[in-house]
Amino acid sequence: MKDTDTGGPTIYLKDYQPFGFVVRDVSLRFVLHPTATRVHSRITFAPNPDATAPRDFFLDGEDLKLIEARIDGTPVTPEVTAEGLRCDVPEGEFVWETEVEIAPDENTALEGLYMSNGMYSTQCEAQGFRKITYYPDRPDVMSVFTVRIESDLPVLLSNGNKVATGEGFAEWHDPWPKPAYLFALVAGELLNLPGSFTTRSGKEVELNVWVRKGDEDKCDFAMEALKKSMKWDEDVYGREYDLDIFNIVAVDDFNMGAMENKGLNIFNSSAVLASPETATDGNFERIEAIIAHEYFHNWTGNRITCRDWFQLCLKEGLTVFRDSQFTADMRSAPVKRIGDALDLRGRQFREDGGPLAHPVRPESFKEINNFYTATVYEKGAEVIGMLKRLVGDEAYAKALDLYFDRHDGQACTIEDWLKVFEDATGRDLSQFKLWYSQAGTPKVTMSEDWDGATYTVTLKQQVPPTPGQPEKAPQVIPFALGLLDPSGKEVQPTTLLELTEAEQSFTFKGLKNRPIPSPLRGFSAPVILDRETTNEERAFLLAHDTDPFARWEAGRQLAKSALIAMIDGGQAPDAAYLDALRQLVKDETLDPAFRALTMALPSEDDLAQTFADMGRTPDPQAIWDGREAMRGAVAEVLKDDLTLLYAANTVTEPFRPDAEQGGKRSFANVILSLMTRQDNGDAARAQYAAADNMTQQLGALSALLANDLGSLELGAFADQWQGERLVMDKWFAIQVSHARPDQAAQVASDLTERPDFTMKNPNRFRAVMGALAMNQAGFHHASGAGYKLLADWLIKLDPLNPQTTARMCSAFQTWRRYDADRQGMIREELERIAALPGLSRDTSEMVGRILE
Ligand code: ARG
Ligand code: ZN
Repeated sequence: MKDTDTGGPTIYLKDYQPFGFVVRDVSLRFVLHPTATRVHSRITFAPNPDATAPRDFFLDGEDLKLIEARIDGTPVTPEVTAEGLRCDVPEGEFVWETEVEIAPDENTALEGLYMSNGMYSTQCEAQGFRKITYYPDRPDVMSVFTVRIESDLPVLLSNGNKVATGEGFAEWHDPWPKPAYLFALVAGELLNLPGSFTTRSGKEVELNVWVRKGDEDKCDFAMEALKKSMKWDEDVYGREYDLDIFNIVAVDDFNMGAMENKGLNIFNSSAVLASPETATDGNFERIEAIIAHEYFHNWTGNRITCRDWFQLCLKEGLTVFRDSQFTADMRSAPVKRIGDALDLRGRQFREDGGPLAHPVRPESFKEINNFYTATVYEKGAEVIGMLKRLVGDEAYAKALDLYFDRHDGQACTIEDWLKVFEDATGRDLSQFKLWYSQAGTPKVTMSEDWDGATYTVTLKQQVPPTPGQPEKAPQVIPFALGLLDPSGKEVQPTTLLELTEAEQSFTFKGLKNRPIPSPLRGFSAPVILDRETTNEERAFLLAHDTDPFARWEAGRQLAKSALIAMIDGGQAPDAAYLDALRQLVKDETLDPAFRALTMALPSEDDLAQTFADMGRTPDPQAIWDGREAMRGAVAEVLKDDLTLLYAANTVTEPFRPDAEQGGKRSFANVILSLMTRQDNGDAARAQYAAADNMTQQLGALSALLANDLGSLELGAFADQWQGERLVMDKWFAIQVSHARPDQAAQVASDLTERPDFTMKNPNRFRAVMGALAMNQAGFHHASGAGYKLLADWLIKLDPLNPQTTARMCSAFQTWRRYDADRQGMIREELERIAALPGLSRDTSEMVGRILE
């Protein structure tokens, strides 16, 4: 493959070189204007004693108009290109000054400094700072920033502590050296919900959640989540906050979830704003997790950052792991673990099994924004979970203390991270490190033997080939196993088997009967388990297993095998499955949230992948039909229980966004959707009319739409919520998700004609196009209309917003699973995108990789 096949040069991890200069301090002055903002920079550079290559004074800079440049006060004329500038500089320390002009109002890419609904906001990770001023825009260059903002807008924010303010200006100073990607600036007519937190050493921190007028009633939950996060990080990791102030800002137009800029976290408004009326339980949980995630970055990301972007998982994997622990502590640990497993399989396994597969620490990229992936984030977190399982909780805590001690203030690598664990535990982690370098989801095949006295478990592992990595070595796989006896009693509590070879056997003695294994408890490793078993055994585990994940998994496998038999062989819904389900839904000892999760059928995408794994071509329509038929059968089997179950799980107390109430509401909504198949929508209409919260309102609407009912409610919903952008996103999405396969593309297309559809708002764009891509049978409808519509819109969006366009190209990543007709149609769309003149580097790299 040539380096420049698509989208410009490839950057390699192996080519890393430190920058030739260190930055002693940075002082920035912004004179804000929508189309002509002036940015003055004053930066002290000195030669970097650790530099290995000859010093080259190259500063990154994109879309900047250079007004002037000076060295030690004398004007200079640097050589300016589309990527930056180069200049001759003095031997020793010198002061570099520039003035540049930028146009935030024309910045639709939402990277750098941009405007959103009249407010100024920034997004600099990964490489957006270079769109603000000329700078060595790389994470290993860290410095102290002082920022002066001049504007008539009332609220002017930047990183660190506020040091001066007056008529038309504010000055901020951040004492903690940081890379430029953590720089942030916000200016606008904003309102704040104030709060405060006293750290464990007695320091009082001012907290604020800043929002646009009209949103001030939706900040309380975020504020509480922030305080809980601050407390939790002190209690569990011993990490204290380190500035006088912590600001959170909600922005409507934002490419991702949120950003951990030092002392000034900027959030997609969907990840902050919540009230019972406008946000679902799922939204509340997500907001709590993202607030925690960004806050936790203060230590894992900001105080200790990444040497280069290949090390992204160093901060993201660890911070996702930490926010998962937090959610498990705040809510239900088993439910969180099951949710994480679902998410990992749904997004990361899908990525790992296709053309976009890459290691947790990639070794090359063209556009780093394309590597903010489920692999780097979620598999990155799983790798840390495995490390913790292998070394134990105590050693993990010791290693983390050492990590913070040893590396505070540094830009680090995965080698640094693993070394800390090796030093703290004496363990050799060289084989474990393969988790960072080998892509692909390991497949573990399990077989058993019983000779009347000894039970032997044999595990074989195989890591599949992935792009650029045809051959793999065996990895270290922590495999948690429990054993039950035929009466359902646990005879061997959870035991961690360490699989390190291609094939390994483990024996258990002293058992009276052949045990029933409960494998991969707690989803102890992100692997695909392959084991021959029966539906009887699955039903047995679903009824008796003590491990909630394994129990849920048994139910899932049961549902899957029943569905496959229906889709494939046209068989009637499996009686054992329906029977087990009936037992489970009525089991009052089980958490309603767990029951809801167990009742959810495997997704269309999951089933499609299962067919592909069996060497078969999935038929999206047949999968859709099969799930529909199964839902009908479940409703039929439970019909005498539904009303009672619904009543028992309907929350009547005042709304609380906690796990207990949320679990009941989610279970009640599952029951309601089944009732709707039986009662022509009466119960759902009643819930819709009575609902005083979004979870119940949307649950009812969704139950109606899933049964081709609810057009009245759909209209009423739009009338009620037209002023609430985030709620309207739900309204857009729900219609596309529930559209029948042959109508999905048309429904999505019609929605784009509405005046309140805009591709400039990533949330709104995703509400329609993301929902289309998720509606598998609709997206993959044989007409090809889904493919064409998505490609049409990606083509329109790319010139405005490359990041979101590139991200959404991944809808096509599973294309090779499908039949020749579908593959042909998808290829045509991808080639149509690839051929566009001026296609962004982001999209070009994605399409290139998918097609390869
Ligand atoms: N660091 C942010 C977070 O995980 C994500 C920023 C991603 N930005 C991007 N342009 N890819 O919290
Ligand atoms: Zn993060």
